[in-house]
Amino acid sequence: MTALISKPDFPKNFTWGVATSAFQIEGASNTDGKGPSIWDDFCRVPGTIADASDGVVACDHYHLWESDLDLITDLGVDAYRFSISWPRVQPLGSGAFNEAGFAFYERLVDGMIARGLKPYLTLNHWDLPSALQAQGGWANRDTVQHFVTYAGEVARRLGDRVTSICTHNEPWVVAVLGHEVGNFAPGIKSRAVMLQVAHHLLLSHGMALTALRAQGCKASLGIVLNMSHTQAATESEADKEQARLDDGKGLRWYVDPLLKGEYPADVLEHFGTDAPRVLPGDMELIAAPLDFLGVNYYFRCMASAGAPWDINASGHDITDMGWEVYPPGLTALLVRLHRDYSLPPILITENGAAFQDEMVDAQVHDVRRQSYIASHIAAVREAMQQGVVVDGYFVWSLLDNFEWASGYEKRFGIVRVDYDTQQRTLKDSALWYRGFLEARP
Ligand code: FCB
Repeated sequence: MTALISKPDFPKNFTWGVATSAFQIEGASNTDGKGPSIWDDFCRVPGTIADASDGVVACDHYHLWESDLDLITDLGVDAYRFSISWPRVQPLGSGAFNEAGFAFYERLVDGMIARGLKPYLTLNHWDLPSALQAQGGWANRDTVQHFVTYAGEVARRLGDRVTSICTHNEPWVVAVLGHEVGNFAPGIKSRAVMLQVAHHLLLSHGMALTALRAQGCKASLGIVLNMSHTQAATESEADKEQARLDDGKGLRWYVDPLLKGEYPADVLEHFGTDAPRVLPGDMELIAAPLDFLGVNYYFRCMASAGAPWDINASGHDITDMGWEVYPPGLTALLVRLHRDYSLPPILITENGAAFQDEMVDAQVHDVRRQSYIASHIAAVREAMQQGVVVDGYFVWSLLDNFEWASGYEKRFGIVRVDYDTQQRTLKDSALWYRGFLEARP
């Protein structure tokens, strides 16, 4: 059950936070000049979202932001990780900016600062402006330049007030789920397109970092990757080889370019003629120095030769997403990254779990979520004791919200949202997190 950890086990300046993203909570999808995003469009395609829902209202955070910030403050966290909806501030993704959209984020950021919360801003948590998708989206190299322009404008307006700016959230998900599997927006199914998209995401990240530094942005700059700990299901050579490939496609394909300036040769060979078009100078741009590397960890992956990777193979607890609960995987992942790469400081930018909650007498006894979070925090501490530099931990998520293709059926919040009334209720996991944070020295 809940591991025995306490806040004093962590360094004083360790940052504790909660995380959300724009499309998943804001709603107001067509308000104050916001343009449509690929997720607005995707939700309208029949059969894409499990409960046929959309982001039109979501948690109505666009209107409830003040009380939501009060809620975050009440939890006693240091920081709030949020994202900017690109089409809210630049409806077409190029050309004119939308003052009303920027005004919302200025209020939000000022509201955080007034409450003593550190703003951790993400530029791209997947809601690409539809107008850019109409021109090919991330598969079109022009989108790279548009992203750099958008990033520069956000930094010009907010860069002096936010603690941190992350370029992209989980490029693997955008590339693979959005362009190869096709179960996420924009719903394309092509390996070659997927690889070109991944390359452009990485390139736009590196170019944005260089541009932001050139304009004097003082925020800490980095990127967030989804990462798993991949293990061979057996000791057989074939399974080990499969684990190496799965890890190569999921992790090294992103971390190697960012930290070593090259794609891993074995995976490049595996992709063969689907490999992306890389222009001279791209790899140097991608490898711009990182102030931090964000890690989103949820589960480990089991690799068996010839089978798709398995994320619920064991006898451990399984979340409502079908993901195995395996905290040692987080320790193993962090220690391995530390061993294999010359790392910037790590932030655990997302970690949490979906479970079916029951509301009884205005309380939610979400013991399994609480245990999930506590045991993963303990796993982070274990990695730090083994020498990994980790600067912060953010729970995913503050609120129950729109869980992409799963709609509102999967609840990740430590705060329950009643979607009929928009009422928020702190679950036991939130009360536990608050108690844990109160123990700060
Ligand atoms: C991550 C996403 C986040 C949320 C969690 C459960 O992949 O970054 O938006 O959906 O998974």
